[in-house]
Amino acid sequence: MVAPMRVLLVGSGGREHALAWAIAASPLCDKLFCAPGNAGIANEAECVPINVLDTEGLVGFARENRVDFVVVGPEAPLVAGLVDRLEAAGIAAFGPSAAAARLEGSKGFMKDFCARHDIPTAAYRRFSDAEAAKDFIRSQGAPIVVKADGLAAGKGVIVARTIDEALAAADALQRYGGGIVVEEFLEGEEASFFALVDGRTALPLASAQDHKRVGDGDTGPNTGGMGAYSPAPCVTPAIAEEVMARMIRPTVAGMAAEGTPFTGVLFAGLMLTAKGPRLLEYNVRFGDPECQPLMMRLESDLLTALVAARDGVLDDFALRWRDDTALCVVLAAKGYPGDPKKGGTIEGIEAAESDPAVKVFQAGTKRTSDGRIVADGGRVLGVTALGRTPGEAQRRAYDAVDKIVWEDGFCRRDIGWRVVGRDA
Ligand code: AMP
Ligand code: GLY
Repeated sequence: MVAPMRVLLVGSGGREHALAWAIAASPLCDKLFCAPGNAGIANEAECVPINVLDTEGLVGFARENRVDFVVVGPEAPLVAGLVDRLEAAGIAAFGPSAAAARLEGSKGFMKDFCARHDIPTAAYRRFSDAEAAKDFIRSQGAPIVVKADGLAAGKGVIVARTIDEALAAADALQRYGGGIVVEEFLEGEEASFFALVDGRTALPLASAQDHKRVGDGDTGPNTGGMGAYSPAPCVTPAIAEEVMARMIRPTVAGMAAEGTPFTGVLFAGLMLTAKGPRLLEYNVRFGDPECQPLMMRLESDLLTALVAARDGVLDDFALRWRDDTALCVVLAAKGYPGDPKKGGTIEGIEAAESDPAVKVFQAGTKRTSDGRIVADGGRVLGVTALGRTPGEAQRRAYDAVDKIVWEDGFCRRDIGWRVVGRDA
């Protein structure tokens, strides 16, 4: 496929705005649709109101609108089999099959897979019932980690400091219905590593780190991510090579050998322990907000790379990246991660983007009939900046944040604290 393409992007978050921005700039892209999109994505694509889990609606839309290539952003439609359905209908799609998406969709599957292929991860046991999990927890002691097996929108993991907390977690997580995984507690610095996979070959993309807690100093409840930057200096070239050799390549080979080859983005959540990197989890898609800094750093054409991954021709493929750091500060609506305040008017996006090193990616936004941009979700904007150093990227991002006028918004003021100062 080299002729100009009609592309459909599925999703509506900041990750999808970053993907839409990169795909729309591709010489391969003739027309870009996004389902359902948001007010920012509407600047890059024609948004169509189809839910990401409306598989038949998406397949029908792609067929009727002669879509050549579909890019799926979030995990839920991947786990539900959207790529399988599109491919069966003769529409090329980027992302894993439902069988391959189990690497994210089932923690039990992922842990058993790692055990079969000797991939370094936390020791674990799987349980179908909470009482057995609780006996095991009592025998192990704390700290200990308790996880729901299936997708739980970021609420399925409890890092328990005490046995009582772990026992309560086993009861609470049983409600998700899919079984429980109890894991060894690992200590170290967390980082993320992304690879593009075509079923047989894995191309390393980049490293990143995010900030999951809502408050400054990494305090308060967990969120989907309040900010992120790339690269993560703690992922040294030697660690990146170890992650490729001990995790990513054995995963790609193992999935192919088991008859469920993996195609798409493989996102490894890592704990850098004193004994070396350990795999905490796999995601089968770009991270949000990690994708926003990744797209700012990518110099090569994204769409060409995604098509090559889908077509199984990543061998000999190379991507160019800016050496710069890209750093994203998330602006969220007051109340997030609980009940976010919706409807407030947001101004100043253009002013924030007056610095050419800054891009404001939109997540939970919509445009009103009188042309205003209003908040329509928890995480609302991802103000992302490039800099020669982490400090420069951070300064530019917060200068841009300060030009945004939105009464109901807040952000962390310390995104990048682990890496700013290292370069002073
Ligand atoms: P997960 O969704 O599996 O990545 O877990 C969410 C978060 O829980 C991770 O980002 C870690 O901060 C923490 N976590 C998960 N597993 C472990 C573990 N085995 N030891 C320590 N922390 C963990
Ligand atoms: N920011 C973490 C994720 O996308 O899962």
